[in-house]
Amino acid sequence: MLSDADVAALYDLMNPWDPDRFPSDAFYDRLVLAADSVLDVGCGTGSMLRTARESGHRGRLVGIDPDRAALDRARRCADVEWVLGTAADAAAWDGEFELATMVSHAFQCLVGDEELRASLTAVRTALRDGGRFAFETRHPQARAWEDWSSADTGDASEVVDPSGRVLRSAHHVESVVGDVVTFTETTSDLDGAVLRVDRTSLRFLDVPDLADFLHGSGFAIESQYGDWHGGPVTAASREIVTIARRV
Ligand SMILES: C[S@@+](CC[C@H](N)C(=O)[O-])C[C@H]1O[C@@H](n2cnc3c(N)ncnc32)[C@H](O)[C@@H]1O
Repeated sequence: MLSDADVAALYDLMNPWDPDRFPSDAFYDRLVLAADSVLDVGCGTGSMLRTARESGHRGRLVGIDPDRAALDRARRCADVEWVLGTAADAAAWDGEFELATMVSHAFQCLVGDEELRASLTAVRTALRDGGRFAFETRHPQARAWEDWSSADTGDASEVVDPSGRVLRSAHHVESVVGDVVTFTETTSDLDGAVLRVDRTSLRFLDVPDLADFLHGSGFAIESQYGDWHGGPVTAASREIVTIARRV
């Protein structure tokens, strides 16, 4: 079996923060390094803020996430504040941040309408006047989930865990209901023994619905891109990258 701590360690192995390899990481690094105070919502294991600190960011850096095991890993970096909680708990801060982020599609974990509204309102509260909220969500038109059922195609990814054991991770989409996709991630050893199954639901908002939620929560859309290089959202875009401003 795999513990929550094992899963957090595997997440870091499979999702390294590397702005030289991933334009998405470079995009956020630029924003974070230019802001004097940053709240990273859904920070997970904390790699973005840790990288910012290691790169010389001298201002306030705070990460919040409801996953205790991920946050325990983040806490190995002691000069960032780490808080256990959901996006909706960000209302505990009042006008304290120049920038809030939700990266690596963490925004899509906000599934229900009420959860979305409460989360956006809380992030707005945490921002100072004119503060910005940067995040991305996968564009539903690209139907990314159709590439995810690796359990069916045999196209699983492999990772070597910290003890040297090779593990296989496979995804299977269980349902697509409206704009909510539910899938499992099954981690097995090479003999096929199942060590863990995690189930996740993600919401795929389209551009108009996303705008409605943002405007209804006190944000204006400052800029929106369809890729990580500043290109517009088009009929071929796979991402909706948004910088919203508190109004
Ligand atoms: C794909 S991970 C991204 C983690 C991290 N941002 C990164 O770049 O590696 C999504 C994160 O969103 C967190 N999450 C799930 N529901 C959340 C909520 N309601 N509020 C804030 N974070 C949430 C999860 O615990 C998880 O750490």
